[in-house]
Amino acid sequence: MTRIKFGEQFFEAENNETVLNTLLRNNMQVPYGCKTGVCQCCLMRSLDNAPPEKSQVGLKDTQQKQNYFLACLCESEDDMTVALLNNETSWLDAEVIEKTDLSTNVILLKIKAKEPLAFIAGQFVNLRRNDGVIRSYSIANSPNSEHELAFHIRILPNGKFSRWVADELTIGMPLSFSHAQGDCHYVAGQNEQPLLLIGTGTGLAPLYGILLDALSTHNHQGEIHLFHGSRDASGLYLEEKLIALTQKYSNFHYTACLSGEVHDKKYTPGRANDIALQNFPNTTGWRVYLCGQPEMVLHSKRAAYLQGASLKEIYADAFLS
Ligand SMILES: Cc1cc2nc3c(=O)[nH]c(=O)nc-3n(C[C@H](O)[C@H](O)[C@H](O)COP(=O)(O)OP(=O)(O)OC[C@H]3O[C@@H](n4cnc5c(N)ncnc54)[C@H](O)[C@@H]3O)c2cc1C
Ligand code: FES
Repeated sequence: MTRIKFGEQFFEAENNETVLNTLLRNNMQVPYGCKTGVCQCCLMRSLDNAPPEKSQVGLKDTQQKQNYFLACLCESEDDMTVALLNNETSWLDAEVIEKTDLSTNVILLKIKAKEPLAFIAGQFVNLRRNDGVIRSYSIANSPNSEHELAFHIRILPNGKFSRWVADELTIGMPLSFSHAQGDCHYVAGQNEQPLLLIGTGTGLAPLYGILLDALSTHNHQGEIHLFHGSRDASGLYLEEKLIALTQKYSNFHYTACLSGEVHDKKYTPGRANDIALQNFPNTTGWRVYLCGQPEMVLHSKRAAYLQGASLKEIYADAFLS
């Protein structure tokens, strides 16, 4: 059992408990989002012992050297004195400018940043409520001169953040967000490379951003195949827009996949990842994007690699979608 000193208080960590969970269990106010080491909201600093290596995965060398760590990945091996970063300056201000239903449980949320911002389509930002609740959302549009960001937010029945978006967030309200992060984005310079985009649920959000960036910003010439999967047709929430894009760009192809019952021939029965990888058994030379349910992402990453894609050309964002 190890002891965590936070401010002037000491807390005992239970076996295999992360620093984040120890602090939350003791009702400490600590920011967090994904709890899986992705969003970096829970970044803390150890003021004495070096944190375990695995809690520094994804941090910059300079941060690692200064004993920064991710509290959600940190199972302390020794007693630790930990501190939050004074990261108020890393939040940017925006205002909600659009909130539209894309389906019965997916909302299109658009915000306009108060200042110019840098991002690449497909990256994600952390959105923060006034009371400090933070969640990560993928950017579903491409960079624009209006400094706007679009998100596809799935409303979970008891979701703290998503329910609040559905019930309380209104146009004109302020919302803060972090700088964009993540390496799941379009890479300019290989204009002829075939792209395979596979997403489930709101995993479509980053793929849609990447698609718009590839087609309209970079005039991508290689074939682009998007497979979007859902259990039923109501989950295919961008069907019309995507079909319209296939009519505008001859190199873009869209396959709508249903893993539940299929009553309409325009849908392909089965899981999006299985169908995509069956259709393209040789992914050598392809760039592959996988976004959505963690099991699907993990499984498909392996399959795409075994079918020929280079690991460094497989980009993945895994989240409950
Ligand atoms: C990099 C990244 C990008 C992301 N991008 C997006 C995005 O573009 N769009 C998006 O909608 N989300 C996205 N997410 C997920 C998002 O950050 C939140 O986790 C999600 O919105 C839930 O937050 P919440 O506060 O509403 O739910 P919470 O209060 O955190 O509750 C989540 C809980 O709901 C349960 N749950 C999960 N799925 C379901 C379900 N289908 N039905 C019922 N219960 C469920 C789980 O047990 C989980 O504990 C992303 C996450 C990451 C890490
Ligand atoms: S909560 Fe720790 S990295 Fe997201």
